[in-house]
Amino acid sequence: MEQTQEKKKVIFSAIQPTGTITLGNYLGALKNWIKLQDDFNCIYALADLHAITVRQDPAKFRAHIYEAYALLLACGVDLEKSLFFIQSHVSTHAELAWVLNCYTQFGELSRMTQFKDKSAKHADNINAGLFAYPSLMAADILLYQADLVPVGADQKQHLELTRNIAERFNGIYGNVFKVPDGYIPKAGARIMSLQDSTRKMSKSDENANAYVAVLDKPEVIMKKFKRAVTDSEACVRYGEGKDGINNLMGIYSSVTGKTYDEIEKEFDGKGYGDFKTAVGEAVVEELRPIQERFNQFIKDKAYLKECYDKSADIARKISQRTLDKAMKKIGFVLK
Ligand code: TRP
Repeated sequence: MEQTQEKKKVIFSAIQPTGTITLGNYLGALKNWIKLQDDFNCIYALADLHAITVRQDPAKFRAHIYEAYALLLACGVDLEKSLFFIQSHVSTHAELAWVLNCYTQFGELSRMTQFKDKSAKHADNINAGLFAYPSLMAADILLYQADLVPVGADQKQHLELTRNIAERFNGIYGNVFKVPDGYIPKAGARIMSLQDSTRKMSKSDENANAYVAVLDKPEVIMKKFKRAVTDSEACVRYGEGKDGINNLMGIYSSVTGKTYDEIEKEFDGKGYGDFKTAVGEAVVEELRPIQERFNQFIKDKAYLKECYDKSADIARKISQRTLDKAMKKIGFVLK
């Protein structure tokens, strides 16, 4: 038992606690985080240090951290199997990030598309943290000698840079960091906006009908699905030019486990109204137990603290070993 546990590959991933967690986050990433716990040694974090690269309102930021922590526990992050901590509680992350900054080139960071996008979006606050964001992310991953990092398409470039930083460091000092691979799940659901199926479902969408939040009330979820954009063919089938229906089929499939063929048969001869109702109901049922657990956890700050403290204590020990090793190689005098 002990032995097989030790041989499990290490997975690291993190999510920023910056707002409403959507059905897109849940089906695209979090549901997978839960599944991975059976086969891997999973280390998960709330990336609160990353979140302050854009200005946060203090009261909202704090509320979002609690909310995200409670929600991920409610989704099934299991502390018997995995670690789940708050990044800022484990100071090795900020420490290694500084070190890695000195092994990351200005040119590399300038080429990051997320930096370019966010600089354009927050032109009044292009701070050094926003620029150095990827070296903090590299620190997150490399501290745990992670084998695999599940990331969405938007983070692939950062992971590639992490690999380059690790290889560069190892090239100078010998084998210090495990060079991680990306982990792209087979059935990685990419959930699109319910109002514009060419765009990813996003919590920052101005139109709240464009996304379903995991904590939306059942009647709100039903209403949003009923208003989802479709097409004029009135036939539930997967196909070109049917982005709206394709997206709804993706959601329905991901929640019920049914294949597209099965879904097409189920709704043969039926209209979009029936289909949208079925998708809405399936999502409501999927989220119901999560919402119930969330409502328990969010009230119990003492329990949440017990959970994040326990994980942070372990994470600190594991990550300190890597940090010490890296610093010693560079020539620092360790205390
Ligand atoms: N930057 C990631 C995001 O916004 C979150 C993140 C921080 C992360 N550190 C990480 C993801 C390490 C994977 C591994 O989605």
